[in-house]
Amino acid sequence: MSDHSPFHTPPRFSATFDEHSIAQIQRAAATGIYDIRGGGAKRRMPHFDDLLFLGASISRYPLEGYREKCGTDVVLGTRFAKKPIELKIPVTIAGMSFGALSGQAKEALGRGATAMGTSTTTGDGGMTPEERGHSTKLVYQLLPSRYGMNPDDLRKADAIEVVVGQGAKPGGGGMLLGQKITERVAKMRNLPVGIDQRSACRHPDWTGPDDLAIKITELREITNWEKPIYVKVGATRPYYDTALAVKSGADVVVLDGMQGGTAATQEVFIEHVGIPILAALRPAVQALQDLDMHRKVQLVVSGGIRNGADVAKCLALGADAVAIGTAALIALGDNAPALEEEYRKIGSTAGAYDDWHEGRDPAGITTQDPALAARLDPVKAGKRLANYLAVLTMETQIIARACGKSHVHNLEPDDLVALTVEAAAMARVPLAGTSWIPGQGGY
Ligand SMILES: Cc1cc2nc3c(=O)[nH]c(=O)nc-3n(C[C@H](O)[C@H](O)[C@H](O)COP(=O)(O)O)c2cc1C
Repeated sequence: MSDHSPFHTPPRFSATFDEHSIAQIQRAAATGIYDIRGGGAKRRMPHFDDLLFLGASISRYPLEGYREKCGTDVVLGTRFAKKPIELKIPVTIAGMSFGALSGQAKEALGRGATAMGTSTTTGDGGMTPEERGHSTKLVYQLLPSRYGMNPDDLRKADAIEVVVGQGAKPGGGGMLLGQKITERVAKMRNLPVGIDQRSACRHPDWTGPDDLAIKITELREITNWEKPIYVKVGATRPYYDTALAVKSGADVVVLDGMQGGTAATQEVFIEHVGIPILAALRPAVQALQDLDMHRKVQLVVSGGIRNGADVAKCLALGADAVAIGTAALIALGDNAPALEEEYRKIGSTAGAYDDWHEGRDPAGITTQDPALAARLDPVKAGKRLANYLAVLTMETQIIARACGKSHVHNLEPDDLVALTVEAAAMARVPLAGTSWIPGQGGY
């Protein structure tokens, strides 16, 4: 039938072979290599937007915003550590490596977090003086790669985080491409300059919970039982992972959902491995409750947290605090519309830029290029982060007060309903307008 037939239908795009899938196939066919990028999962999935708070009305009593206090402080590491970490706000800065990030960005994170009385975290690249110097509370990561690991830095830290996995790539190791492995990064990681690095996905000296317990005791001995020991896991089997982390002696469990950002990983990993934080949070809390450890071992959650509503929802579902990565980078100046022209030159656009592995970041954040990194003023960027953290905290308080709570930790699942059946089942709260919580009966 010719194109001019009256029965010709307009071209129709496929929902399965959509624009992105077609571009991915074409790219794979042209290059023979898989796609690597930074950031977190980009497709829509059940998230905190699918939950709503029930503010107070006749059956509940709200607090006055300008007259009645609503506490935001949190203490992490109360189980065994002699010196738990006391934070003024329930939002912490997640581990992001020097190497992935510039020294200036690490300094800015430290400045912003310190101004708001919260902690920042090292990453898969060791501890830098910029970061230690500007962070009053610094969590030091112990990773499978062991990059930058030394006992002196363990002692310099305020807490230690044993990283088992990340939400963006549970079961996978770190990745840093050659263009970001400068002399300084190479020296810290004991690597050759300029060669792509793919680090280990499992720790070399323990394989399961029994030897993890030994490792944790070793870390406590090295640090005189002072520092809280966190265990970070990517969200996959949160009930069992939380229970095993507690059994191994963790003071704090850090649970990172699949929306969580990464500096660089295969796209197929980011989009198809792990579960969203909304689905992971309640099973983790359940594990803590079953062990009578809820609020005794603290739970920090992350993965796609953007605003005070997200923070409040995490706390209401049972977390003690949240961690942010991507949002902190955006607050520093990542993906700023003012840089649009420069993003276009490197084939991206503000708001979608995620080629953090390439080290060409015009904002000077995810780069090791000295000229680009020098564009980031750590003082100004730190101030922007502090502003953002202040807003997150105030928004969390606004919601808590509206629900009648004098502390953000008094938020509870009863304050929430879900907009979709999926979110109701995952968060274990009723579907809005009903008393129905689907899927009850599992752990
Ligand atoms: C640039 C970047 C670098 C990261 N590097 C590390 C790392 O070295 N170690 C680690 O455990 N997680 C790392 N992460 C993951 C974060 O610690 C955190 O789990 C994640 O960013 C939280 O999700 P969000 O980005 O949606 O806030 C990195 C994330 C980003 C964005």
